[in-house]
Amino acid sequence: MSIATLLLKGKEYDFPVLEGTEGETAIDITSLRAKSGAITLDPGYANTGSCTSAITFIDGEKGILRYRGHAIEDLAGTASFVEVCYLLIHGELPTPAELLVFDDQLTRHSLIHEDMKKFFEGFPPSAHPMAILSAMIASLSAYYSEHDNELNIIRLLSKAKTIVSFAYKKSIGQPFIYPCNALSYTQNFMQMMFAVPAEDYVVSPVVDRALNLLLILHADHEQNCSTSTVRMVGSSGANLFASISAGICALWGPLHGGANQQVIEMLQQIRQSGQSARKFVERAKEKDSGSKLMGFGHRVYKNFDPRATILKNAADQVLAALGMRDPLLDTAMELEQIALSDPYFIERKLYPNVDFYSGILYRAMGIPTNMFTAMFALGRLPGWIAQWKEMVKEPKTKINRPRQLYVGKTAREVESVETRIAATV
Ligand code: CMC
Repeated sequence: MSIATLLLKGKEYDFPVLEGTEGETAIDITSLRAKSGAITLDPGYANTGSCTSAITFIDGEKGILRYRGHAIEDLAGTASFVEVCYLLIHGELPTPAELLVFDDQLTRHSLIHEDMKKFFEGFPPSAHPMAILSAMIASLSAYYSEHDNELNIIRLLSKAKTIVSFAYKKSIGQPFIYPCNALSYTQNFMQMMFAVPAEDYVVSPVVDRALNLLLILHADHEQNCSTSTVRMVGSSGANLFASISAGICALWGPLHGGANQQVIEMLQQIRQSGQSARKFVERAKEKDSGSKLMGFGHRVYKNFDPRATILKNAADQVLAALGMRDPLLDTAMELEQIALSDPYFIERKLYPNVDFYSGILYRAMGIPTNMFTAMFALGRLPGWIAQWKEMVKEPKTKINRPRQLYVGKTAREVESVETRIAATV
């Protein structure tokens, strides 16, 4: 094993150097504070590995993303979302027999408790679906004991799609559509979203395939903000539903999963204002403009985001197959072309990320803009679950509790009220 030596205030400290299966290097500083009294400072954790994990591998320089060793391009082309859920959670793609059982379990646990339907009544129609989703997922813990995690994983995966579609039906004032056991996971979701009681509803195979693709591309992304949140909350011993609900809240932010909604709003704003794409890009470069090119940039990918490449092609193909045109796709491609030849974006290695083109596909499927981040959450569920499960099973897991570098006042006396008043006069 190789060693990294730290020279601190004239003294040397040795630390083991670990290597991942893909050759990544990590200095194990577990003993740093005990040995030296010092801590590391890494705001935003850009240089900090918080765990070891065998689930997802990303090489941000080369644009590689693999789930359990399988390239995202291979999975996106061949697998179903349910197969990818199984892969992430159990470590291997399922055999046909395993898939049959897993699929059946996901089908049979789709219903939510009838009492939970009443919760939807309490939300205003304008409630953001992410507010409803996080509250509902945390509420599942009120119905299911913490002790059967394997069954709770199935319940969570299965009921989340029912909750997301009920949130949509609530927002448009339509009756809830119950899950149908004859349909696949994705078909079931689409019929709960778009069927109405008086009419037959058939999911187009093009839409079904596009939905599988989107969910697969979102399914895991190693230790991102929401996944780290799931692990952080779970490390305290909080139950699966509570931990995932926290992850949903983290995903909501515009710098993370909330970016997909922001991208479409940005594209619409550009078109409606008549502003040129070039002018928007210029504004996004000004630090104090409050404007960014949403759907661009990534903490890890510094060359291209493989998910964005797949989605850009898919957006073109799906729109063509559905016989649709979306002017927002033209604006997106124009923005991309301008940004990719601009020194500001080139120097900072800013490229389209997964959220840049996903909204175009969601729109083509009829999914409203404020539902996009909930769709991302639906896709990310198996990843959060797999990461939570890995953390719970890892004997070395400790409660996550970072340190800080204190920069506040040093010890001082409490002054009398008179002295404080005198100081303000
Ligand atoms: N538009 C304009 N400038 C940008 C952008 C952008 N989208 N992204 C980064 N920059 C600039 C940033 O201002 C900084 O400039 P400087 O070095 O002059 O200060 C530099 O590029 C580095 O950016 P950073 O914010 O320090 O990078 P980060 O790794 O902390 O943040 C990010 C990554 C994704 C939060 C950021 O690129 C961003 O805010 N992008 C827009 C939001 C977005 O699309 N988020 C979705 C991410 S992918 C889906 C997911 O998994 O969450």
